[in-house]
Amino acid sequence: MIRNKFPSLLILAGGLLFSAGISAQKSPAIIASLKDVFKNDFLIGAALNTDQIEEKEPNAAALVPLQFNAVTPENIMKAEIIHPGWNSYNFDVADKLVAYGKKYKIKINGHTLIWHSQLPAFMRNMKDADSVKKYFIDHINTVAGRYNGKVFSWDVVNEALNEDGTMRQSIFLNKLGDNYVTEAFRLAQAASPNTELYYNDYNNEQPAKRAGCISLVKKIQAAGVRIDGVGIQGHWHLGKIPLKDIEESIVEYAALGLKVMITELDIEVLPRNFQGADVNRQMKNDPTMNPYVNGLPDSIQQQLASDYEALFKLLLKHKDKIARVTFWGVNDGQSWLNGWPIPGRTNYPLLFDREYKPKPAFNKVIELKTKNTAPHK
Ligand code: G3I
Repeated sequence: MIRNKFPSLLILAGGLLFSAGISAQKSPAIIASLKDVFKNDFLIGAALNTDQIEEKEPNAAALVPLQFNAVTPENIMKAEIIHPGWNSYNFDVADKLVAYGKKYKIKINGHTLIWHSQLPAFMRNMKDADSVKKYFIDHINTVAGRYNGKVFSWDVVNEALNEDGTMRQSIFLNKLGDNYVTEAFRLAQAASPNTELYYNDYNNEQPAKRAGCISLVKKIQAAGVRIDGVGIQGHWHLGKIPLKDIEESIVEYAALGLKVMITELDIEVLPRNFQGADVNRQMKNDPTMNPYVNGLPDSIQQQLASDYEALFKLLLKHKDKIARVTFWGVNDGQSWLNGWPIPGRTNYPLLFDREYKPKPAFNKVIELKTKNTAPHK
C-alpha cells in the first residue's frame, strides 16, 4: 500500500532501531537529524510523555537526543499532576526531565503554569476568590521558583483566549479578573528570573484571535512586566495549513519584540469539522471517521509531506524571528490526536510513524536544507 520512496531513510530507521539503548550518535547508519540540519535556524523540539522522559521506550530513547534539542513535557508539569493538593507537590518526573535535558543538552520548555484545563481537583471548583488567588500565587511561586534557570522557558499562560480574541471564561478570569494574565507573568518573572516566559495558544495565527493575543501581550508589556515570546501551537489540518495567517502572525508577533515559536505542531489527517485544540470539544464517532486503520494511503502520505514542506519553507523564510519548532509528540502512535476529539482513532500527524521510522514528510523537511547542498553528515 505505502511505497517508500526514500530508501536512504530506511537505513536511518534501521539504524535507529538497531542502535536503541546504545549511543545512537555513534551509529554510522544515522544520516539525517532535524536538530542538526536546522541548527543555524531554530530549535527543533518534541513533546515527551512519561515513559519517554524516563527513557523506558528504547526507540524514543535513541531517537529523541539525535533529532531534537528542545523538549516540552506533554502532561507532567501540568497543575493536576505537579500540584495535586494545597501543600502537596509531585516533582518526581519533572525533576527527571530536568536531568534528562542536562544529560543530552536539550532545552526544556515548562508546560504550563496557568491553564484552565487539567487543574487539580482541590481547586477546580473553588468558589472563594481569595482561595483562587492563594492557589495562583502559591502555584507560580513554587513551581516556577523550583525550576528557575533549570528550565529554559515556561508557557506561563496557556489558551486564555476565545476564537474572537476575547478572554476565555475560566476560573482564573472569573475569580481574579482580566488582569490575571499580566499577574501570572509578574509572579513568574519574580520567581523565575533566569527562565524565558511565553504566552501559548492555538489558532492564534487566525486574525481575530491574533488581534486578541497582540492586545494581551501589549497589556503585559505596558505594565512593565517581562514576556519573552509567544507560542503558536500549530494544530493544523491536512491540505489546509493557513500559511498566509501564519506568516502575518510571525511578522506581527516579532514586531512586538517577541520570539515566535511553533509549540505543538501536528497535522490532522482524519475527518474533523472544526479547527483548533479545545480539549473540551468532542465529536460523534462512526466508521467513516476512522478511515485509515490499516495504513495511510499514498496520496495522503504525499499530501502530508508537501504540507510539512510548505510550512517549513515558510518558517525558514522567517528563521530570524522563529526561535523553536516543537512537534506535539515524537511518533504517530503517541499522538493525542488518536484519542481526541474521538477516542480510539488511528492518526498520522507527525514525522515519525508508529515504529519510529521517518515518514516521507520527514525527508521533505530535511531536504529543504540538504538538497542541492553538500550531503549532510
Ligand atoms: O493519566 C491518566 C491515567 O491515569 C488514566 O488512566 C487515563 C484514562 O483516561 O487518563 C490519563 O490522563 C490522560 C492524560 O492525557 C495523560 O495521558 C487524560 O485522560 C487526557 O485527557 C490527557 O490528554 C492530554 C490533554 O492535553 C489534556 O488536556 C494530552 O495527552 C495532551 O497531549 C494535551 O496537550 C494539550 C496541551 O497541553 C495544550 N494544547 C492542546 C494540547 C492538545 O490537547
